[in-house]
Amino acid sequence: MSQEQWKHDVGEAALDYVEDDSVLGVGTGSTVNAFIDALAASGKRLEAAVSSSEATTRRLRELGIEVLDLNQVGGLDLYIDGADEFDPHRRLIKGGGGAHTREKIVAEASRRFVCIADESKRVGVLGRFPLPVEVIPMARSLVARKLVALGGQPEWREGFTTDNGNLVLDVHNLDLVDPVSMEQNINNLPGVVDCGLFARRPADVVLAGGPDGLNTL
Ligand code: 5RP
Repeated sequence: MSQEQWKHDVGEAALDYVEDDSVLGVGTGSTVNAFIDALAASGKRLEAAVSSSEATTRRLRELGIEVLDLNQVGGLDLYIDGADEFDPHRRLIKGGGGAHTREKIVAEASRRFVCIADESKRVGVLGRFPLPVEVIPMARSLVARKLVALGGQPEWREGFTTDNGNLVLDVHNLDLVDPVSMEQNINNLPGVVDCGLFARRPADVVLAGGPDGLNTL
């Protein structure tokens, strides 16, 4: 079975968490796209969605799903999103698509965060995937030097601008044995908008598709 099939299966499995007539938080990426396709095919009715990116907003609207601004709704019951890595404590690295800042905002606003992933993304300790850090453009070099001082090797994702008009540094080789502290340390750097560590607020459930079927963490 291919990774595409795992994404399809986990996208379908996430439907079990979705209540009819609810307002759903929706993440970004290819696994989420598989979930959106499964949602459209399922006949489940959403009242509306809150989206974490312009790409997801376009996809939802194409399917006739109303997209609301987070400021128009109170808290959300459920947020569904993918990840680039997950650890045994359901802490994540996200931001491969550069949408992690809005994703973290929607996750924070949600009572329950269900992460949909596949077994290729499971790690014992986070950090195999380079950590995305969204930065204000004028602070790019300053933040890069600070990230080196924290032990990482930042690489500018050239030619990429986030939905918020900012840049992304992908940081290799950070020691993420204590991801909660590292998330705080990076986010305290002036010029950093947010990093892709979801450790302070991990996922509540990780559904991972794999060769042996679906695993729930
Ligand atoms: C986007 C993200 C995505 O959730 C993450 O990159 C996973 O994407 P995919 O499902 O395509 O592997 O954090 O910013």
